[in-house]
Amino acid sequence: MRFRSFFFSSSIFSLSHSRSPSLSSSPFSSLSAAMSPALEKSRQGNGGCNDDSKSKVTVVGSGNWGSVAAKLIASNALKLPSFHDEVRMWVFEEVLPNGEKLTDVINKTNENVKYLPGIKLGRNVVADPDLENAVKEANMLVFVTPHQFMDGICKKLDGKITGDVEAISLVKGMEVKKEGPCMISSLISKQLGINCCVLMGANIANEIAVEKFSEATVGYRGSREIADTWVQLFSTPYFMVTPVHDVEGVELCGTLKNVVAIAAGFVDGLEMGNNTKAAIMRIGLREMKALSKLLFPSVKDSTFFESCGVADVITTCLGGRNRRVAEAFAKSRGKRSFDELEAEMLQGQKLQGVSTAKEVYEVLKHCGWLEMFPLFSTVHQICTGRLQPEAIVQYRENKL
Ligand SMILES: NC(=O)c1ccc[n+]([C@@H]2O[C@H](COP(=O)([O-])OP(=O)(O)OC[C@H]3O[C@@H](n4cnc5c(N)ncnc54)[C@H](O)[C@@H]3O)[C@@H](O)[C@H]2O)c1
Repeated sequence: MRFRSFFFSSSIFSLSHSRSPSLSSSPFSSLSAAMSPALEKSRQGNGGCNDDSKSKVTVVGSGNWGSVAAKLIASNALKLPSFHDEVRMWVFEEVLPNGEKLTDVINKTNENVKYLPGIKLGRNVVADPDLENAVKEANMLVFVTPHQFMDGICKKLDGKITGDVEAISLVKGMEVKKEGPCMISSLISKQLGINCCVLMGANIANEIAVEKFSEATVGYRGSREIADTWVQLFSTPYFMVTPVHDVEGVELCGTLKNVVAIAAGFVDGLEMGNNTKAAIMRIGLREMKALSKLLFPSVKDSTFFESCGVADVITTCLGGRNRRVAEAFAKSRGKRSFDELEAEMLQGQKLQGVSTAKEVYEVLKHCGWLEMFPLFSTVHQICTGRLQPEAIVQYRENKL
């Protein structure tokens, strides 16, 4: 399969993204969208498809969500003639308490015993601890690691990605650089010179691992064709994926909702009840939308009604690790640090909300917008001990 390479310089302050009509629709209608002859051919099965025209997928990351993503992709790669059966999964190598390497155990048992125990990934998933080797044959890269590791991963891959390669980021978070915030999809695009879509949504990994129905949103820019290919690669009867022509909106939803989840955890820890939690979710969603549109005026209102928007806010404020750890933090009245609670409660999984709250705070401060975003700025000040958890409801909402 050959993709056209779309590389957009997508600085957070570049406001030149064109407004195009919403292309959001069901994943089923999306599959019938116009295709290039190469894509069409590669979908025709053995008759029209040789090995070279098949796409090779590598998943960069193997945590809780990374492993579930590999499972989804592996089941589709076996079924769809346009993809190679084998799906590589880059594993940040760890030695388990019994002395075995995580990669060896995954390849032996077909299970990620540390981050997704009890779930078979699919025999066609091959764990690889060598990042360069894992990506070298792939023309479809799925990035799914905690966001704090993405800069280092991109640096390691700099200059190593050649040919027509497409990427998708499942990473929720942003980098804050001197010149302003940088979304992870932009980091990937800029550093590796490849187009990057995003997939976000109301997706608690452990629920999808046991095949409970959920939805997700693919955000894309440029061609709809590549968005359809990603939709096809991820969709299953229990995982319904919808493409949206709004990569920044989708990615900011996935990133900012983790800050709202921390606020919801404080409310739970202080036993403030359901009305308060609903209020925090509403205010949080409003701040998510306002900040996204300030950073990228092209962001669409309709994106907030997709799975990546309101649905992800709801699921993450009801379940999810950010809410859970923030609840424990509030219960301890801020006496136990987030680092300590993360290590104790998550066994190697990473919290995203606390670091994202810090990054968002830096952006707000840099832009002089702190007063406009009381929930976002209060969350960071509680996380850093400058305010008590009770402060989560002690502010006057500014009209945005
Ligand atoms: N878990 C979920 O339910 C879920 C759902 C949707 C999106 N996400 C997002 O997916 C992304 C990945 O999360 P996850 O749940 O797969 O990971 P995780 O938090 O479960 O696991 C942490 C991962 O980081 C790896 N790691 C540790 N140190 C590293 C280093 N120095 N360099 C590179 N990797 C290192 C670990 O090996 C492990 O694979 C995050 O952005 C998260 O917000 C998670």
